[in-house]
Amino acid sequence: MMALSKAWKLTRRPVGMPAIRDFTLVEEPVPPCQAGDVIVQAECLSIDPYMRFKAGILPLGSTMDGGQVARVIESKNPQWPVGSYMVTQAGWRLTTHLSSERLQTTDFWQKSLQLPDMRGLPMSLGLGTLGMTGNTAYFGLTEILRPVAGETVLVSGAAGAVGSVVVQIAKIKGCKVIGFAGSDDKVEWLREIGADHAFNYKVVKVGEALKQAAPAKVNCYFDNVGGKFTASVMPYMAFGGRVAVCGAISGYNKQEEEEEGAMTGCFKDSDVIWNRLRIEGFMFFEFEDRWMEGLEQLRDWILEGKLKYKEYVVNGFEKMPDTFIGVLKGSNRGKAIVMP
Ligand SMILES: NC(=O)c1ccc[n+]([C@@H]2O[C@H](COP(=O)([O-])OP(=O)(O)OC[C@H]3O[C@@H](n4cnc5c(N)ncnc54)[C@H](OP(=O)(O)O)[C@@H]3O)[C@@H](O)[C@H]2O)c1
Repeated sequence: MMALSKAWKLTRRPVGMPAIRDFTLVEEPVPPCQAGDVIVQAECLSIDPYMRFKAGILPLGSTMDGGQVARVIESKNPQWPVGSYMVTQAGWRLTTHLSSERLQTTDFWQKSLQLPDMRGLPMSLGLGTLGMTGNTAYFGLTEILRPVAGETVLVSGAAGAVGSVVVQIAKIKGCKVIGFAGSDDKVEWLREIGADHAFNYKVVKVGEALKQAAPAKVNCYFDNVGGKFTASVMPYMAFGGRVAVCGAISGYNKQEEEEEGAMTGCFKDSDVIWNRLRIEGFMFFEFEDRWMEGLEQLRDWILEGKLKYKEYVVNGFEKMPDTFIGVLKGSNRGKAIVMP
């Protein structure tokens, strides 16, 4: 008899903030494991903001896209023996058949990746600080912004998976760090992990906060949110400042007619020109060639006590949609993970 898996399908196109009724939990057969294939079991599943974008473009009826740390439970592929672990884009699914073709893909998004040597750290970090979001923080800060010790680094979405790692790496690099996040307890945590100044963007005036926290203005801005927040940061950028455009979550749930203003209205020509700003978007997969280098550096910083990680863990595969909606609403501190 064919084994069965559980999977969450996108069955309605979200309008604005996604709703639980946009997703349907189904049981489906797992294809047999043939030469070169493996069958994997999800150990923990990632919840990320990009899933909102995917929910806007995946054909209805598709399994929701997403990464997971998975354990090989059946194998006809010597590279992935039974019991080995991988980080794979198997989607919101518990048991997954990965064909030999899929395992050989050169598309980084679809690749099944080895975890770094975790040295006893939890496997789930392979989805966060020692995975995609950790490397987004690492390469976005060290390669796109390239801060110099003594410079002021501003981080938006600072208590999230990417932002909280950026805050800490910027401190390791000897910078002054200002973080903005959406609640007082997140602000308190940002101070605990080393931010020199932290603010709740829902209650402060961004300009007033920056006049106080960055009298010499901001040299590097790591932007996770875009929109009005970013527009209000721009007048406080220093001459020769750099902006790394990592994400624009403030616009992800906007209706189409609102979207243009939300996603493009951040940068005023005169700020950019007079202050000779460099504004650069980037994607984590640009750093594929240096992937393990980033993860090993992050792991070593954790082991040396220089980098703290926090996971927002939700138990139960049935909670995938709630957790996803929660992340879009700001429920998480650190990396959002579902343990099935
Ligand atoms: N370029 C890349 O390669 C790459 C890779 C990974 C992620 N990203 C982007 O990086 C950003 C952070 O991703 P993440 O995985 O670390 O997610 P995350 O920050 O852990 O979670 C999302 C957070 O966004 C904040 N948020 C939601 N709506 C907001 C709004 N209207 N204004 C300001 N903040 C809002 C919430 O925190 P608050 O409580 O603070 O509002 C929420 O906790 C996202 O924009 C994501 O798309 C880009």
